[in-house]
Amino acid sequence: MSSPKIWTHKGTFLLAAVGSAVGLGNLWRFPYLTGENGGGAFILIYALTIAVVGIPILIAESLLGRASRKSPIMGMKYLTKSHGTSSNWQIIGWMGAAAAFIILSFYSVIAGWAIHYTGLMFSGSLSGASSETIGAAFGDLLASPGLLLLYHTLFILASGAIVGMGIHKGIESGLRFMMPALFFILLIVLAYGIIAGDAVAAMKFLFTFNLSDLSLEGWLQAMGQSFFTLSLGMGAIMAYGAYMSSEASLTRTAISIAVVDTVIALLAGIAIFALVFGSGMEAGQGPGLMFVTLPIAFADLPGGILLGGIFFILVIGAALTSAISLVEPVAAFLVEKYGLSRPTAVGIMIAGCWLLGLVTVFSFNIWSEGTITHTLFNRSPFDVLEFVTNILMPLGGLLIALFAGWALSRDEVIREMATNDQWFKVWQFLVRFIAPTAVAFVFLRTIPQVEGYLIPAVGSVLIIGAFTAGRSFMVNNKAN
Ligand code: TRP
Repeated sequence: MSSPKIWTHKGTFLLAAVGSAVGLGNLWRFPYLTGENGGGAFILIYALTIAVVGIPILIAESLLGRASRKSPIMGMKYLTKSHGTSSNWQIIGWMGAAAAFIILSFYSVIAGWAIHYTGLMFSGSLSGASSETIGAAFGDLLASPGLLLLYHTLFILASGAIVGMGIHKGIESGLRFMMPALFFILLIVLAYGIIAGDAVAAMKFLFTFNLSDLSLEGWLQAMGQSFFTLSLGMGAIMAYGAYMSSEASLTRTAISIAVVDTVIALLAGIAIFALVFGSGMEAGQGPGLMFVTLPIAFADLPGGILLGGIFFILVIGAALTSAISLVEPVAAFLVEKYGLSRPTAVGIMIAGCWLLGLVTVFSFNIWSEGTITHTLFNRSPFDVLEFVTNILMPLGGLLIALFAGWALSRDEVIREMATNDQWFKVWQFLVRFIAPTAVAFVFLRTIPQVEGYLIPAVGSVLIIGAFTAGRSFMVNNKAN
């Protein structure tokens, strides 16, 4: 057997995980969700969930990767065997692969919009344009399957090219170049936001906490977002963790990932809302915040067109460093299991995702509202895909927390976490009880009938069920 593949640099896991975490979730989803849910209160819940649920699961997921040193699917197979648990836990790997596949298919289409906007900005076609014209430009883009398909293809090919070059020459070198560049661009955009926009109003909006502003729906969205933004529950972190140096501390790394990801989301939020408020617009614009509201602000402010172009390059880059972590787990599996060459494995993965991406592309035009495909599900096919991943991600996180919390032995975890007994106990309590409970609530959001006080009730049932299942899966694990 060949020696396990490890990142060349000790810090690469951190870099790669941050690259995966920071993406459309930070730049596009976080600001618009915050805007829709009234600002500070949303952020409070989001940050709290990251600390109490996100970090423990992040530790758990990288733990499973490093302990197995295999792709998620093969790794879970190995871990269930070596820890004498039911082989049903292998579902973690398979669900993760399915989620990665689906997420990449639409992530690529949305990242493609940013390619279009980079072009719109730099070509100057939006300079001095009215808000109606800019709103119409977004509509025109969505109405054109050809354009969407072109950008989707370009983006997915770029992700594939990086992963196809291997974990060292492709992923590692790519990240070492892209991550500092992206951070630098973010600082430029932030500085511009502060100079040209209304940063005070933005900070007020983001950091004034009034919990009563937050609806139950907002609570759950905040928790869901904290999963999405950390790339949790679907094997991406596990795949990167498999290449992590044995010396690096999981605890410290996981905390750094969460802190950097959150800080970047906040900085992006400050920049974006400073510009939006600076042009006298509202925060609660929904998913169009980045593609309609923000371009209107850029068109309105001095030097905005140039900065707008730079901003959309940031969006493309951040999405790219996330997308490669969606390709890697499945590609690594195909290499490991079927002995394919890496480029072939990557080719298969992205060809599949490209094809599935057509569903998202057509959702905005030929299958949009009023057409049969829409009527069939009562939502667009793209919404169906998003709905499925909204189930797979928290469910994956829940199972990862339970598996790491119950199946791994105390010694093993303490060694991997490089921590003492005290912190181990805190972590174990969080992954065994708190994280699964929290996830159960996020999960219930996807069931529209469950409202009001029914949520706690059904939640408890689900949690008890999960624990019973968790325990019964453990066949001969006496190590706890
Ligand atoms: N964290 C990414 C973002 O914020 C999105 C994401 C969710 C993701 N799950 C993932 C990225 C898994 C890579 C792998 O945009």
